[in-house]
Amino acid sequence: MSIKVGFDYVKPEDRYTPTIWKERIREINKIIVDKTGAGGDFLGWLDYPERLSKDEVERIIKKANFFRENYEVLVVCGIGGSYLGPRAVIEAINGLYSRDKMKIVYLGNTLDPNYTSEVIDFIKDKKFCVCVISKSGTTTETSISFRILREMAEAKYGKDGAKDAIVAVTDKEKGALRQLSDTEGYESFELPDDIGGRFSVMSPVGLFPIACAGIDIKEFIKGLKDGMKNYSSENIDENEAYKYALQRHSLYLRGCKVEMVGTYEPRLECVNGWLKQLFDESEGKEGKSLLVTSCVFTTDLHSLGQFIQEGSKILFETITYIDEPNNDVVIPYDKDNLDNLNYISGKKLSYVNRKAYEGTLQAHANVGNVPNITITLDKLTPRTLGELLYFYMKACAMSAYLNGLNPFNQPGVEVYKKNMFHLLGKPGY
Ligand code: PA5
Repeated sequence: MSIKVGFDYVKPEDRYTPTIWKERIREINKIIVDKTGAGGDFLGWLDYPERLSKDEVERIIKKANFFRENYEVLVVCGIGGSYLGPRAVIEAINGLYSRDKMKIVYLGNTLDPNYTSEVIDFIKDKKFCVCVISKSGTTTETSISFRILREMAEAKYGKDGAKDAIVAVTDKEKGALRQLSDTEGYESFELPDDIGGRFSVMSPVGLFPIACAGIDIKEFIKGLKDGMKNYSSENIDENEAYKYALQRHSLYLRGCKVEMVGTYEPRLECVNGWLKQLFDESEGKEGKSLLVTSCVFTTDLHSLGQFIQEGSKILFETITYIDEPNNDVVIPYDKDNLDNLNYISGKKLSYVNRKAYEGTLQAHANVGNVPNITITLDKLTPRTLGELLYFYMKACAMSAYLNGLNPFNQPGVEVYKKNMFHLLGKPGY
């Protein structure tokens, strides 16, 4: 198991009592495994890493390699669960200024004309290819962006050439994108019926773009399988994902309204985004839930840090820390020492970052009375990241059920859509 959950910075009186919860956790675990709880039809992700066939993985890798060999830029076109998963993994592994030969850009995640124009300008003179992702096939942001991209691809490569340059990830049978993709003859991958968007990073939704970014998806899948195995126990004492879920639920019951998820690595900012998507869209219901928001330290210690330390006592933090960074930098010695930094010259930045982490835990938890849950990983690799994402998905299902919520629907998201369609004059609205 590469993930450790720690409660050293949660005061003993705020920690859950295992004996009281043991039976409830066991019951909910049964509901999850038997798929008999609310939204149980959307628990296909539980064992999907085992169900995913070798042939499908090879087909994903083959087409991704074709893209890598023939194009310079991949445009990933999708929003919400059909976008954040792949971006989170690609940025976490390749970094924010990747030198990989395949550049990845994102469209369909906004209606902003400035952003859209920037992407169009960026790709128009380059050899670009497209991966459009939508389960419903009807999401407005994705559909508009894809219409633009399709037109650009056809103008650049001709109808047949565009066919090679476009991949669709969508439902097996239903939806406008399935129909379009079959009519145009795009290579397509299936997003299974029983997996919702925010749980779909383990499906071709995540796997195809991740493979296009040159990341070893077989390792990522191994990590997902590690997650399946390591977080399967019904026993709260043996399941780190359930410990985390129960601790955040207990803090909620003690009056916390906000969970601030944080990292000390900017390349994990999009993992924060994915976590907000996962938990807020799954749990933000019926007027009774935690708000998950996020921070990147030490950057945000110079802004949000003030609020966390001394502001309203509405939150707790969950900090994910990677023990061993993939890269390190040594602080140079300077004989003049005008900046007074020689006391740490020769030290690595990872050492300073760790001291900031330790000092902040003490400041926020011990002085500021803000409970801190810690999640520690030895190292960030495609495999450990796969396990980490599975860990969070399992925790999310448990957490929502603990709060009596269906984790797998999102009725609230429909409200703005109806209003927007009405204002746009869409037939039927
Ligand atoms: O998690 C979810 O279900 C949502 O965030 C969806 O992924 C998002 O709304 C995009 O939907 P679709 O894949 O149908 O375009």
